[in-house]
Amino acid sequence: MSDWSHRHILDLATFSLEDFNSVLELANRFKDVPTKGTRKLPALQGRLITTLFFEPSTRTRSSFELAAKRLSADVQSFTPTSSSLSKGETPIDTALTYVAMGADVLIVRHSSTNVPDQLASYLDATGSKTAVLNGGDGLHSHPSQGLLDLYTLAKFFNPNNPKPEAIKGKRIVIVGDILHSRVARSNLWALTACGANVVLCGPPTLLPYEFADFVNAPPPGQSHDPVAKRGQITIFRSLKEAFKGADAVMTLRLQKERMRQNLITDLYQYHYEYGITHESLKWCKQKVPVLHPGPVNRGVEMSSALLEDTSICLVKEQVQNGIPIRMALLYLLATRV
Ligand code: NCD
Repeated sequence: MSDWSHRHILDLATFSLEDFNSVLELANRFKDVPTKGTRKLPALQGRLITTLFFEPSTRTRSSFELAAKRLSADVQSFTPTSSSLSKGETPIDTALTYVAMGADVLIVRHSSTNVPDQLASYLDATGSKTAVLNGGDGLHSHPSQGLLDLYTLAKFFNPNNPKPEAIKGKRIVIVGDILHSRVARSNLWALTACGANVVLCGPPTLLPYEFADFVNAPPPGQSHDPVAKRGQITIFRSLKEAFKGADAVMTLRLQKERMRQNLITDLYQYHYEYGITHESLKWCKQKVPVLHPGPVNRGVEMSSALLEDTSICLVKEQVQNGIPIRMALLYLLATRV
């Protein structure tokens, strides 16, 4: 882990293959901590981890808080509804209040893109040692979700040795509301960096053709891509076409709170065309796993029967894998401050 160079974790666009390897290797070492011995490690004793979630969250926030506790850190959390935000304090000033209290890592979720980046730039410019971990910002990025999805897939394809190379050459289909999904964007960076070919599938209003070029732009502030050879991205409108040769399927929530117009007029029609069911999975030539970051709209992006079929649906594994992945991220950031 000596070559870990990130002071903050804001985006997966700047991750090299070695970075993905480091996180998965560490997560794999931490995976049994919650069920063995004292169920804790003393690694982050005395460190302060603060969760600053300006947007709702069930999984991400609880998972980060549990991960911090499994590493014996102190955990402080912030509740926007009872905070001074209602008195007009800005998110950055709110964050700086927790920095002043001694936070070693601030995990930040906000509905506006770039709030975690702005905070990280401010902290760097003022010489602060506090690290920022993006817990999901606007439509932009959700790095811990991208990493736990990568780990879940690597474990599926190679349970005994879940490294990024386990997904090399695999065809991963991502279905649904790509346009509004920070999860899809983080997955595009992670999966293509590890050599998977990604097939995107959705209606034109939720999946513009520009996504085919998504990973070709250099990451912000960098003149070159940190990964020499990425997998390809292709776009299909029809689920039947997209599923040909699929090795895994990931579907996404219709994120209505982020839609400016009524981009989907009929949920039944949407489910008919893009909902994942036992029936539609027959278009894949083999039995494939289905992932979803949650929360799931039952009967819209996925049938209830499929959600409950644990032989296919990996939603529970995703939640479980989120804990060691977030332990790894907190360890990598908090042992450097
Ligand atoms: C996602 C998010 O908030 O971006 N959820 C999550 O963190 N597990 C996806 C979503 O909200 O649909």
